[in-house]
Amino acid sequence: MSIVEIFFSPSGTTKKVSDIIADNFNQEKEICDLLNFESSKKLSSDDIAVVAMPIFAGRIPKSARERLSKIKGDNTKAIAVANYGNAHVTDALLELVDVLKENCFDVIAAATTVSHHSIFDGVAVGRPDESDIEKINEFSQKCIEKIESGESLQSEIPGNRPYTDYKQLPFVIECDESVCSFCYDCVSICPEHAIPDDDPITTDLELCSRCTACIAICPEDARAFAGDAFNAKKVDFEKANSERKEPEFYL
Ligand SMILES: Cc1cc2nc3c(=O)[nH]c(=O)nc-3n(C[C@H](O)[C@H](O)[C@H](O)COP(=O)(O)O)c2cc1C
Ligand code: SF4
Ligand code: SF4
Repeated sequence: MSIVEIFFSPSGTTKKVSDIIADNFNQEKEICDLLNFESSKKLSSDDIAVVAMPIFAGRIPKSARERLSKIKGDNTKAIAVANYGNAHVTDALLELVDVLKENCFDVIAAATTVSHHSIFDGVAVGRPDESDIEKINEFSQKCIEKIESGESLQSEIPGNRPYTDYKQLPFVIECDESVCSFCYDCVSICPEHAIPDDDPITTDLELCSRCTACIAICPEDARAFAGDAFNAKKVDFEKANSERKEPEFYL
């Protein structure tokens, strides 16, 4: 039996939440990082899956969903987590639980957790913080008790079907050529193959999902959101989402 951590985490906070939950099991972990995992996989009935996704415009990211769909369970117990930037959960947790059920996972618990907003960086700064981590640890212990006692998911998961439509953010990502060291880390990490192999200064904005992985990995801070539309939205968004939201747990 293994704890299998499956996550998509462009700026690292979803992985952090997933790690906290998985570490509570005190067992060997297998990592399945969907940013660079595009093959198929089958888990066994005695594995336990921790599946964590960030929320993008009220959904789980489209390419993460496609990659997750290639991972099948065998009535494998799963804990589903939708991690968001203190704005809106909308239908993402319900979508994640639905995908897992379709793929033969037995979802025994679910959570929405709050982390630093990866686009609007003035929102939920420093989260998950100590208070979040304490709550996530308590939740993890309850999950372990549920798995030991064989209980199934009792709570209703929030959200609606059909899910809200996918929305592409209009913001532009730019690369500052004067500071780029041409390490090509952004090219390697991009899940949408939106940065050409031979030209890290360019971003194909038709392919780009604005996931932020290239911004987070760049050692020179060369890549960033830019433009009047982004700067105007940032001020309003950060004001509208300044009130702290708390993680929610479904057992
Ligand atoms: C394209 C995109 C869309 C997002 N949409 C939402 C959203 O609908 N609601 C929200 O609260 N946060 C939203 N966020 C913020 C992320 O869900 C949040 O920062 C999360 O912690 C990112 O996870 P990561 O650090 O693993 O990349 C969005 C972020 C991105 C990049
Ligand atoms: S180019 Fe777009 S899709 Fe690729 S890593 Fe950067 S933000 Fe994500
Ligand atoms: S990660 Fe940054 S420094 Fe490296 S190639 Fe990309 S933009 Fe340039």
